[in-house]
Amino acid sequence: MKILSGIQPSGTLHVGNYFGMMQKMIAYQEEHELFAFIANMHGMTSVFDGKELARGTMEAATNFLALGLDPEKAVFWVQSDVPEVAELTWYLSNVTPVGLLERSHSYKDKIARGIAPNMGLFAYPVLMASDILLYQSDRVPVGKDQKQHLEITRDIAIKFNNTYGETFVVPEPDIDDEVAVIPGIDGQKMSKSYGNTIEIFSEKSELKKRVMSIVTDSTPVEEPKNPDACTVYALYKLFAGPDAAADLAERYRRGGVGYGEVKKELVELIWTYFTPYRERHDRLMKDQAAVRAILLAGAVKARYCAEKTLRKVRKRVGATYFKDT
Ligand code: ADP
Ligand code: TRP
Repeated sequence: MKILSGIQPSGTLHVGNYFGMMQKMIAYQEEHELFAFIANMHGMTSVFDGKELARGTMEAATNFLALGLDPEKAVFWVQSDVPEVAELTWYLSNVTPVGLLERSHSYKDKIARGIAPNMGLFAYPVLMASDILLYQSDRVPVGKDQKQHLEITRDIAIKFNNTYGETFVVPEPDIDDEVAVIPGIDGQKMSKSYGNTIEIFSEKSELKKRVMSIVTDSTPVEEPKNPDACTVYALYKLFAGPDAAADLAERYRRGGVGYGEVKKELVELIWTYFTPYRERHDRLMKDQAAVRAILLAGAVKARYCAEKTLRKVRKRVGATYFKDT
């Protein structure tokens, strides 16, 4: 089974990204054919500083490799290193109803936030469909927020197949309903757009600052507390494992435990959790040329697969207009 997913390089990766998708994606490399890429072309819909996007691309790639993505097991590349994706986007655009894109929540949300809509933002789901269909992916692991984009991809694949004949695998979304939305330090969904993130590879002092500023209620230390209504507990559960989490829930309910004390434990838990990866991260940060070489080798493999699909697609749409080409 071929599994594909991408992540935008538009900001430093955080704990929500890690538990929401990276961890699961990296685990797939052991059992399946994994295609993983940095969606820098999608990043261009929101980052308008080329240097910043380039920096974010290298940072995201470095983080992925540090967290265990193995280029020997998975195909790992940067989206724009396979320009065929833009070509396929055009072919797909011609079978994509405008109404389908107008109904996109993510597009509507961005407009509601005052972002001036441009074609890139509008066509974002078509580029995403192109990412997925170009490699004939069977399954696409994403967070809940990407569900509609996957539905759009399926609609486009079906429409293309109906119009031109069977060409694309219609992919299945792989969305874990039980992977709760990871809360940020203000209790809302952790997201770079809300400025409430805990970064994966920050300095310890920064980590401490972020964790200590997690918003809690004002229940006094000695009073019983509800673990299920507490952001500190929700994060603790992710890092501590089920036994320690059950133990803390018990302490909460009994009373006598203060949020400050749990936050201090949480800092240590997060720090220890990422320590093995941090060493690799620091090494790769010092050798960015090695990261670039890995990405280029990945792009060669990805392009090979992309070309195979595109040869078929070009024929179907009539882009290869002479019988021998
Ligand atoms: P952000 O919300 O910070 O902009 P992205 O939209 O770039 O993050 O998300 C990249 C991936 O990480 C997506 O698959 C998304 O579902 C997942 N993800 C991001 N934030 C969270 C979160 N708080 N909880 C669970 N998954 C998340
Ligand atoms: N839109 C996805 C996100 O913001 C990133 C993405 C781009 C992607 N292309 C993809 C995810 C293809 C899965 C498959 O998270």
